[in-house]
Amino acid sequence: MTDSQEKNSNIKSLRTKWLSWTLLFFILYATLRYIVFKGVDPVHFPLYIVNKIISISGIFFLAASYAIGKAEWLSFESKSKQNQLIKYLGLVGFSLISMHVFISLIIISPEYFPKFYEGNMLNFKGELSMLMGVFSLFCFTIPAIATIPFMQEAVGIKKWQKGQRMGYLGLLTSLFHTGVMGVSGWIDIEKWPGYLPPITLIGTIIAIIPLYLKFVKKNSG
Ligand code: HEM
Repeated sequence: MTDSQEKNSNIKSLRTKWLSWTLLFFILYATLRYIVFKGVDPVHFPLYIVNKIISISGIFFLAASYAIGKAEWLSFESKSKQNQLIKYLGLVGFSLISMHVFISLIIISPEYFPKFYEGNMLNFKGELSMLMGVFSLFCFTIPAIATIPFMQEAVGIKKWQKGQRMGYLGLLTSLFHTGVMGVSGWIDIEKWPGYLPPITLIGTIIAIIPLYLKFVKKNSG
């Protein structure tokens, strides 16, 4: 094996580790919070709980993809290695979030999500939160398409960079998606199953980090 082949295989195993450890962490977290402490029937693990695991892992990867370029304390061997990791994290995040959307559309109903409904119709919270989710998905679709080979040459660098920046709007709208649906349950810590913070709160905090690094830290530096 040549030096560069060895380096590439090291990078691949590092990426697989990132993915496995993140998924494992959120599998344990969601199982503990919802099945062990909240008492959700394990029958609902395959869609209801898995949906929570992949949505939070998805936003984690998307946020990491945008944060990595802005975190000055992170150093990379080269710009191309950094770009490879940014692309990998973004595409994994986008794939997980796409699965989240499919699963959500299968299970969304008053029985699964009574807080989003009034009778058989979505209430204002349900509609607003879903609208933010749809808008966020749209925003992330553009940078995902931009990763297709030759897109940069096809649309020109300026438009391509604009497309990449749509991800920040995606993060902002995902923050409203999770915020609108979850904020009422964030304050009463006593009611958190096993005192574990809600996944909506964790998702909102995760989405804030790259936005903070991009817009607040940049202007204060
Ligand atoms: C068509 C678009 C979308 C739909 C229909 C949708 C639907 C839903 C639903 C129904 C929930 C509640 C799940 C639950 O409480 O078990 C949810 C939660 C969540 N969504 Fe989405 N979503 C969409 C897009 C997105 C996008 C683009 C992101 C992130 C970039 C995202 C991230 C999350 C997160 C982190 C949660 C919190 C999970 C939890 O508390 O269990 N969603 N979404």
